[in-house]
Parts: sequence; structure tokens; C-alpha cells
Amino acid sequence: MSIGVFDSGVGGLTVHRKLVDRFPDADLIYLADQANTPYGGRAGPEIVDLTRAGCERLFAEGCDLIVLACNTAAGIALRRLQQTWLPGCRQSLGRAVNVLGIIVPTIEAATGLPWEHEAERRGEKVEKLDILAVFCTPATAASRVYEIEIDKRRQDVAVFAEPCPDLAGMIETGAGAAELAQAVNRHVTAIATRIGRAPDRAILGCTHYEIVADLFRAALPPGTPLIHQPDATADALERYFQRHPEFASGRAGVRRFLTTGRPGAQHSLVETFWGGPLSFERA
Ligand code: DGL
Repeated sequence: MSIGVFDSGVGGLTVHRKLVDRFPDADLIYLADQANTPYGGRAGPEIVDLTRAGCERLFAEGCDLIVLACNTAAGIALRRLQQTWLPGCRQSLGRAVNVLGIIVPTIEAATGLPWEHEAERRGEKVEKLDILAVFCTPATAASRVYEIEIDKRRQDVAVFAEPCPDLAGMIETGAGAAELAQAVNRHVTAIATRIGRAPDRAILGCTHYEIVADLFRAALPPGTPLIHQPDATADALERYFQRHPEFASGRAGVRRFLTTGRPGAQHSLVETFWGGPLSFERA
């Protein structure tokens, strides 16, 4: 069985990298929808349609399990697709397939609680507020998914989302370090101004941002803990395989990279992060 990894562009490679490390024998097919990236400024129905098209493509390539390594796709489209599209899709494919996201694992990592846990002690006096910043795309920020889901589980955590409309596109096109650092600094300053102080912790809530995690580390106060989605997703997938042995992760170590955009090599910022040359085929 192959595992599909989907993102609007190169951001999901940060998750893919961790999956390669964690499951070296797994057959992985990565799909970047670079013809339509970035998703972050698009309307909800468009994000749903594009995400469905990406999943259809990966199922057609033989994937049985897909990881949406994109907060925007997972936050806006996943539930809708699971409820309205996947059941019929399983029927027409005649096999067990599934699509997972990265927001649930991230919220589990941020709260230290399993997803099933919802707070029973609502209304209790909160002694200390842990301020958690989420840097993300405008679509993810508008969905308020992190605020809503974390608030259900932890009343002592206050979530502030900072939409960064420019950043994924800049990373996608390989902007220079100085330009990227300036953009990251601007967003870190903006959120600290809005909160009235620096956050205690931060989620890089767009998979592209993991590529410039060092710039976030440099812009935030020294030692600010970052919640890393690639690690959280690999942990969650490992637990998923234990619960669902019907989804074995493959054994030939296949690595294919597909793009709806321009095939060939990716720019050096991405290849340096991934740790080797990446050649994309036309999807
Ligand atoms: N990497 C994506 C995310 O995690 C999407 C970025 C974009 O296409 O705007 O949200």
C-alpha cells in the first residue's frame, strides 16, 4: 500500500521528510498542487474542490491512505470530504481508503491530551494563562479551528492566530533569506503587539513555515517552544497503524513526487531542507 502526502505546494515535504525518517520502508507518493498554490487566500468551496481533486489523483495512483500535509486543506476541507465524499469514493473504488489530516495531531501535541478528551471542568478558575500563537494562512485563521478545538480541551490555554498572507507564496517561490526574515519578524511583532506580550509557545500552523523554522526561532524570545507538525503527524500515524493494521505502510521504500505545476527540480531552499535533490513528475 502506498501512502499519499498532499499539499498545495512544497510545505508538505516537511511532513513527508519525517514520514521517510519514521517509516523508511513505506511507499510514499507526494502530490504538490503547484498549479493552484497558494491555497491560503482562496474561498472555502474552492479549497474543498482542489483538495478532493488531489485526493482523487492520489487514489488513482494506488494510494490507500492520504495524509493532508496542509493545514488549509485539512482545516477547511477534511471534515466535509470525510462526511460527504469518502463513503461514495470507497464504494466506487471497492477498497478501504482513508484521508487523515494534520490538525488533530497538532492539537493533541499542543494540549497534551488525546483528541477524544474534551474538558469536563469548564468554568473552573484558571490560575495561569498559557499564550499560544498560531502562525498560519488567512484561510486557516478565518476557520478558527485552532482556537475552537483547543478551547474545548484546555481553558488555561489562550490561542491567538496570526494570518501570514505572504509567507507560503514566498517560500514556494524560493524567496531570499533576508526577505523571508523580514516577513517572519513582521508577523511575530504583529502578534506580540496584539497580545500585549510575546507568546509562551507557538505552532507553525502552515507546513511551509517549518522550512523557515529557524527564522521563527530567531524572531521569538529565545527558547520559546515550537510545536512541530511533522513530528506530531508521524507520531499520530504510528498510532493509527497500530489501531488499523489493514493499512500497512508498504515495504519497497518507493518515493515519487508529483506536481500539477512545473515538473523538474525544486529550488534549493526546499532541497536543502529535505536533504537531497527532489525531482518532480507531472501529475
Ligand atoms: N502548506 C499549507 C498549509 O499548511 C498551505 C499554504 C498555502 O497554500 O497557502 O496551510
